[in-house]
Amino acid sequence: VPRAESDLLGELVGLGLERREARWLIEEYAPGAHDDARPSAIAAAQRRLAGEPLQYVLGHWPFRSLDLDLDSRVLIPRPETELLVDVAISELALADLAAPTVLDIGCGSGAIGLSIISELADRGVVSTLLAVDESPGALAVARRNALKHSLHSVSFIESHWYDEISPELEGHVDLVVANPPYVSEADFMDVDEELRHEPRGALVSADSPRAAGFADLETVIAGAPRWLARQGVLVVEHGADHGAPAREAARSVGLTARTDCDLAGRERIMVASR
Ligand SMILES: C[S@@+](CC[C@H](N)C(=O)[O-])C[C@H]1O[C@@H](n2cnc3c(N)ncnc32)[C@H](O)[C@@H]1O
Repeated sequence: VPRAESDLLGELVGLGLERREARWLIEEYAPGAHDDARPSAIAAAQRRLAGEPLQYVLGHWPFRSLDLDLDSRVLIPRPETELLVDVAISELALADLAAPTVLDIGCGSGAIGLSIISELADRGVVSTLLAVDESPGALAVARRNALKHSLHSVSFIESHWYDEISPELEGHVDLVVANPPYVSEADFMDVDEELRHEPRGALVSADSPRAAGFADLETVIAGAPRWLARQGVLVVEHGADHGAPAREAARSVGLTARTDCDLAGRERIMVASR
């Protein structure tokens, strides 16, 4: 390690940063540790030491095959959501469609929808994505991620769930994917300090008669049949206690439903179809 870099590394570790994180921040903000870049590395270290998540401080993080730009306007995509993408792609593969239309509702950084259309493209399948969020900030990040990865067949729609989607799409969506907010107000009181840096509107949902933190899931599930094509599929992520309520919500709007588990064996992903 060159002298300047090891000096800066020592300085950041001295401030209290873990060595591994200090290395990443130097690589991001001061590669080569040139004098003029040192202040930005130190400023980044101070943000991290003040409790900001590493992913926001670095400004990007991998999700499946994409390196996604991230900032505090969007949720940091989670590993279980990578699993949701696997499930969604398998469902689409079963349907064997020539040019599927995908609706990512509550898209945040675009993690789910952009991964799906990018991985479909790798398999030679050209698909169209509608990326919906009520947060203009989240849509700005999602748009940047689409450009970053040259994914052009995407429309971005600012909308409260399905409200602003063109009626022309009714019955034409092959896959609706969503990872809506599902932490209840009560549970949010107990979450880690670090989670509080993420947008509250991306995490917290009101309760529904079916379950705590379930109101947004209820809306997303109940609204899906109107948009799904005849062979269309809805794939949603939900809280570990939401397996039964999610299946009941799907069945109550005429869908058949099953639940997939995460690697820890908890019910986390519902797949529903006509
Ligand atoms: C849990 S985050 C998921 C983000 C991204 N899909 C992911 O998996 O990383 C939920 C997203 O839903 C959006 N959202 C919350 N309420 C919404 C609403 N009423 N209409 C549309 N989007 C909403 C939030 O802004 C946030 O981006």
